[in-house]
Amino acid sequence: MTKNVRGKRLVCILLAVALLLGSFSAAAFAQDGTLSIYASYRIPTGSVRMTAHRGYSAVAPENTLPAFRLAGEYGFWGAECDTAPTADGVWIIMHDDTVDRMTDGEGRVVELTFDEIRALTVDAGSNADAYPGTKVPTLTEYLDVCKEYGLHPVIEIKPNTPVESLDSLAALLGAREEKDRFVLITFGRAHAARMKTLTPDLPVYLLMGGDLNEDFDDAVRFCADNGLDGLDFCCNWDEAHVRSVQDAGLETMVWTVDDLATAETYYKMGVRDFTTNALTPAKPSGNILQRFLWKVRDLWYAVILRFRAIRGKAA
Ligand code: G3P
Ligand code: CA
Repeated sequence: MTKNVRGKRLVCILLAVALLLGSFSAAAFAQDGTLSIYASYRIPTGSVRMTAHRGYSAVAPENTLPAFRLAGEYGFWGAECDTAPTADGVWIIMHDDTVDRMTDGEGRVVELTFDEIRALTVDAGSNADAYPGTKVPTLTEYLDVCKEYGLHPVIEIKPNTPVESLDSLAALLGAREEKDRFVLITFGRAHAARMKTLTPDLPVYLLMGGDLNEDFDDAVRFCADNGLDGLDFCCNWDEAHVRSVQDAGLETMVWTVDDLATAETYYKMGVRDFTTNALTPAKPSGNILQRFLWKVRDLWYAVILRFRAIRGKAA
């Protein structure tokens, strides 16, 4: 083969690769207009865990079965939920202390029975009209949907949940066949420590809010002293925060990252767990060839990333 033919062949191959990569950009936006993590070449998608905050709450009402099913359909790694027990001890899914914001009823979750809550209808949240008759789910129903779609349940225990009720939560979770997929998160230190004692095999992360005045070092120490697995932080940490947590042998998770620039910043710092309302993993649907091409693209982006890292070090 002459040099000329070889050169032409190389140009053709490069053009084909460019066309293939270009065709992926059309899939950068999910159907509802939210931005896909696939739009970033700085984040090899296979290396991050994307969790849908309160289910895919940008499309269906938060913390409902439709929102969890959508998280599964869009290919999220996990679906986050908020759980608390009713007056008669049934673990249900609800973010607020009361049912007022999300349903047509009112009252505090801890003071209402499960039957009273089940009689209500979810009438708020994204596209509520498209999901008529939606009910407040139980934790068990949520776990069933996660299992059906292969999602990792990321279960937030609300901090005003009575700590004594955690025994029944541990029993419920411990009886599930797929328990090795669960992640527990909570702002409540007492809840985190108790769950680690009751369910030592489940990863437990302490949540931190956006207030940088919170005692960061104390939180890291608390996690390490109580055998917790990591910190799930909100939005405003810098590299030193991430490094301190990792140096303490703890994992990092961040909530809620809704734009690519922020995701890339945290990725660069070493964070691999993202909870989001608006980014989607945009699972490549369709045939084997398409899925293979997505994998090729991931690999390609990983090579670029590696190259940039080597170049960065050399500079
Ligand atoms: O993913 C963590 C996040 O859900 C904590 O905040 O208020 O949305 O439950 P919140
Ligand atoms: Ca939550």
